[in-house]
Amino acid sequence: MKELKLALLGFGNAGQAFGRLLLDKEEEIKKTYETEIKVTVIATASKGNIYDPEGINLRTAIEDINEDGRFSEKHRLTQLSTMELSKEADYDVLVEMTPLNIFTGQPAADHIKTALGRRKHVITANKGPVAWFFRELSHMAHDADVCFFYETTVMDGTPVFNLAEKTLKMAKVTEVSGILNSTTNYILEELAKGEDYDDIMERGRKMGFIEADPAMDIEGYDAAAKITALLNVLMDAGITPDQVRRKGIEDITAEDIGKAKERGKVIKLLCRGFRNEKGEVEATVEPVEISENDILAGINSTTSIVSITTDLMKKISVIEHEPEIEQTAYGVFSDLLRVLDRVAYNK
Ligand SMILES: NC(=O)c1ccc[n+]([C@@H]2O[C@H](COP(=O)([O-])OP(=O)(O)OC[C@H]3O[C@@H](n4cnc5c(N)ncnc54)[C@H](OP(=O)(O)O)[C@@H]3O)[C@@H](O)[C@H]2O)c1
Repeated sequence: MKELKLALLGFGNAGQAFGRLLLDKEEEIKKTYETEIKVTVIATASKGNIYDPEGINLRTAIEDINEDGRFSEKHRLTQLSTMELSKEADYDVLVEMTPLNIFTGQPAADHIKTALGRRKHVITANKGPVAWFFRELSHMAHDADVCFFYETTVMDGTPVFNLAEKTLKMAKVTEVSGILNSTTNYILEELAKGEDYDDIMERGRKMGFIEADPAMDIEGYDAAAKITALLNVLMDAGITPDQVRRKGIEDITAEDIGKAKERGKVIKLLCRGFRNEKGEVEATVEPVEISENDILAGINSTTSIVSITTDLMKKISVIEHEPEIEQTAYGVFSDLLRVLDRVAYNK
């Protein structure tokens, strides 16, 4: 039986859900790939780091976090930092699941560069590195002849990047658009029902739809990072989130929504990118009025949509319906299966 060793950077909602999925599929992976997955590193910010080249007991690691909020002495705790572990630990695949830094993509991008520099495969759920450093990271992965996968960064496990790469071969992407932020969806939807702004925010926070500080969503930063990641990968845009023409929904009032409704329209925060006459990719995030009959009008709350226009297949759309954390885990898992295809079958 072969082995594939994983370093998990970040063990929060996504990391633990991915851990549970690995445990669920352990036997199926062994059967399909004749490979045993061993997690050798788990790094966090405040719950301790563990490193065991022989393999961490993933089940007890998850239990520890849920019961005590940190790793116990049952594990080989280490004082090595996340960066030191990325540099020195024994692993084959680095799985980056630390929080997004929307303004720099760091320190996640440096973790990834370190792993690629060591010719390790990389999977990231964190869109920061893809939005800020995609060209550099993909060139590094190419030169090192290793995988660099990031399916989870936009719409969780929904195949967007894989769909384009695997099923739209030789088709040139000319435009990408989407509704990609659930917080703004939720707020606009509730405003349209006549709800009061402060009540919406309070209820949204209680239901987990709205962050304690929702500015990143409301002002369109999160959507800008997502469209940048999409355009960098699908159109080789070579742009960063600060180059997106961005306008959030902060100025949209119930009155604006009411007037739009009188015209048979709804307001949505739309992300869009296309190639201009100079051949450069331009990206926008802005609230737009959409006809009530348009498919986009039905993209509410946590549901999201990406539309990809190509020269050969015109416009196709992928919708993700109300994902939960298991769909995030599946995105990381599906990337791992692609690494396994490569490692076990040279596919
Ligand atoms: N949640 C989703 O549905 C979802 C969907 C798609 C993509 N993503 C992306 O996946 C990533 C993780 O999301 P999440 O929801 O799991 O976040 P989360 O629950 O906040 O967990 C983040 C984890 O990263 C750890 N961490 C922070 N800084 C670190 C560092 N420098 N080194 C090592 N670990 C560090 C945190 O440690 P502590 O536990 O000590 O705080 C925590 O374990 C983010 O980039 C997010 O954008 C998430």
